[in-house]
Amino acid sequence: VEIKRLTVKGAVGIEYPVFIGRGLLEETLLEFVAGQDTTGAAIISNETVAPLYGHALQARIPGSFLVVVADGEQHKTLATVQAIYEALLEHGANRATPVIALGGGVIGDMAGFVAATFMRGVPLVQVPTSLLAMVDASIGSKVGIDLPQGKNLVGAFKDPAAVFADTDTLRTLPEIERSCGLAEIVKAGLVGDPLLFEELGNISPGNTQGYEAIIERAVAVKIAIVEQDRLEGGVRAYLNLGHTFGHALETASNYEWKHGHAVAVGLVAAARLSARLGLCDGVVIGEIERVLKRFSLPCRYKGYFPDAVWEAMRHDKKWRHGVPHFVLLADKGKPVIRNDVPREETLAVLAELREA
Ligand SMILES: NC(=O)c1ccc[n+]([C@@H]2O[C@H](COP(=O)([O-])OP(=O)(O)OC[C@H]3O[C@@H](n4cnc5c(N)ncnc54)[C@H](O)[C@@H]3O)[C@@H](O)[C@H]2O)c1
Ligand SMILES: [Zn+2]
Repeated sequence: VEIKRLTVKGAVGIEYPVFIGRGLLEETLLEFVAGQDTTGAAIISNETVAPLYGHALQARIPGSFLVVVADGEQHKTLATVQAIYEALLEHGANRATPVIALGGGVIGDMAGFVAATFMRGVPLVQVPTSLLAMVDASIGSKVGIDLPQGKNLVGAFKDPAAVFADTDTLRTLPEIERSCGLAEIVKAGLVGDPLLFEELGNISPGNTQGYEAIIERAVAVKIAIVEQDRLEGGVRAYLNLGHTFGHALETASNYEWKHGHAVAVGLVAAARLSARLGLCDGVVIGEIERVLKRFSLPCRYKGYFPDAVWEAMRHDKKWRHGVPHFVLLADKGKPVIRNDVPREETLAVLAELREA
């Protein structure tokens, strides 16, 4: 079996590998952990993923123990973090005990935050099991939790020692989660790899075993961007393509919209706005819509009025003082940031995308 290995430059002097391939949980991860100067391991997972992969992994890593938390974004909280700290202490964890984050992005962010803070920091190994976590959340060192006031309001930058994306785990991932991950891969192609975007037309959505090449390319896009802008002062903003509209839909719907679905509509919105402003060719819109439909992703929204979506957008934490801050496209693979987009143009696009 072929295993891909990419490298990420993190904080000054730090580099870590990202492995992508089948069967990593059976061998490569175990060898890596055994080769580290650490003792045991705290495997952090949730009620869904632990029975699938956590117990087996725990049995294979000498001296390891498993901490299982409830599944869901609503548990990505300080209360859960506190419960994890307590479990670590009960099991006698110390500064040489690595944390292995086994799950989707919620587990990666939360266990990563634990690793960044427990005893002022212990080694972290990211084992993303959702498609979204493989291509997005596990790469780039951002970890954190939500507050009642908003998502991801508390966090840190924590470079993992390594990332293991075992594509075998995607077989149990629910279809809707798979499509949400695909939305972020479409985004990655549009942001930094037009050939990845073309490739998406060839893969068969139901066969995750054929996903390795697109995962690798999407990871490479994210690596290239975070390496240029680790602490998010500049080009990292490109990764927000489709997310301004997307977040607005998520908030307007009180999070009834799945993130990936909202991002899909957001990508269409960004392309339409770009074409309307004369930044890019209108044919790109059709290309994006076609690929999203292939992946059973939405291209339109229902219900909410454009004004309400606009209001939600104005409160985006990435818009300084309510000034629009859009990532748009000059072409596939050519993102541009514009802060002078007229409100009327945005409202016109929102109206186009609204289904009665
Ligand atoms: N740190 C970052 O840079 C970054 C980037 C993007 C997103 N995120 C965060 O990631 C989170 C979203 O991640 P997500 O989409 O993976 O959500 P998630 O972690 O909630 O996972 C989605 C669902 O799939 C289940 N699941 C995961 N792997 C599975 C598998 N192999 N088989 C069966 N079920 C499986 C999970 O238990 C969950 O029910 C959000 O909290 C978001 O803020 C962080
Ligand atoms: Zn996203």
